[in-house]
Amino acid sequence: MKKNITIIAGDGIGPEVTRQGIAVLEAIAKKYGHTFQYKHCLMGGVAIEETGSPLPEETITACLAGDAVLLGAIGHPKYDNDPGAKVRPEQGLLQLRKALELFINIRPVTMYPSIAHLSPLKDSRLKDVDFIIYRELTGGIYFGKKETSADGNTATDECAYSVNEILRIARPAFAEAQKRRGKLTLVDKANVLETSRLWRKVVRELSIIHPDVVVDYMYVDNAAMQVILNPGQFDVILTENMFGDIISDEASVLCGSLGMLPSASIGSKVPMFEPIHGSYPQATGKNIANPMGTILSVAMMLQYFGMHEEANDVKQAVQAALEHGVTTQDINTTNGYTTTQVGAFICERILDAVTQEADNYEEQVQNTYTYNIDLGQSTII
Ligand code: IPM
Ligand code: MG
Repeated sequence: MKKNITIIAGDGIGPEVTRQGIAVLEAIAKKYGHTFQYKHCLMGGVAIEETGSPLPEETITACLAGDAVLLGAIGHPKYDNDPGAKVRPEQGLLQLRKALELFINIRPVTMYPSIAHLSPLKDSRLKDVDFIIYRELTGGIYFGKKETSADGNTATDECAYSVNEILRIARPAFAEAQKRRGKLTLVDKANVLETSRLWRKVVRELSIIHPDVVVDYMYVDNAAMQVILNPGQFDVILTENMFGDIISDEASVLCGSLGMLPSASIGSKVPMFEPIHGSYPQATGKNIANPMGTILSVAMMLQYFGMHEEANDVKQAVQAALEHGVTTQDINTTNGYTTTQVGAFICERILDAVTQEADNYEEQVQNTYTYNIDLGQSTII
């Protein structure tokens, strides 16, 4: 198969982690005889620096012309600390989501037994944690009318949703629940917000035609608590844009490292895949960022392309790296490997250069590092 992939490396550690994502795509291409072609585009702080705009027109055009987008990370502290900044890196991301009509953001929350000890929660609370968040991505308060009064004393952000905007994410969320454990939790604030009451009405109507899905309605404040108290109760969480942003960051720490979580954004045009973590400016250029969130986002991309075996290979290679401690310092605090070493290990595992037999495993892992040193990429050995 041949696919054109637009790469938006973005800010901070974005370029380092996307490089490993591309390496993994190349390993898959080699193993299965696929061809992936890449077009690199600017967005975020780096785009502001070079073009004055967080989302240059040619980035939108390139994304629309390709089969999928792989995004690293967006954001720079320079803009965070300046409330008066006219342009911000994040505007690029929001405009791109709108331009590509990415109205569904899918964030799976998966536990990996080999790193469960890093979770801030006790083992007993982590039992059965395996859920997926369907976050609405192109509506609500993020995209409502924004205003500051002439005297600068009042500011408004409008939150609006239409039935159609709710239906187009709720239907796939129900379908996802049917494929999984048959439970859907709508997270809202229907005791206060009119938009939440509309979400409930639409979801309630859908529940009638999906008798095989058990639907639960939960206020967002309670959901924030339940994600910590009893995360095992969730299967599919469906929610609006801002609640989804907050709940998904909260859920992302359950597994032990924010660096592990991938996401997919899909809609009616070209899909986009990105890790959940931010641009981690303090780590920029240090080759220490965890590339697994990006690599697992690549797995979601392969899945989207219908390359199921390929996606499985990637996920298994990540598992193997975790099991053998070939991880970056967010996970392996005393003896972390570099971003490139972790990526190279995963690629070699995909290509079966590091085989499943544990006998000579150490030697093989050692060879992986030698390979990195040959490439001049290792900073550890
Ligand atoms: C996310 C991020 C973005 C969001 C920011 C960078 C605009 O936090 O993808 O979750 O709020 O959607
Ligand atoms: Mg967020």
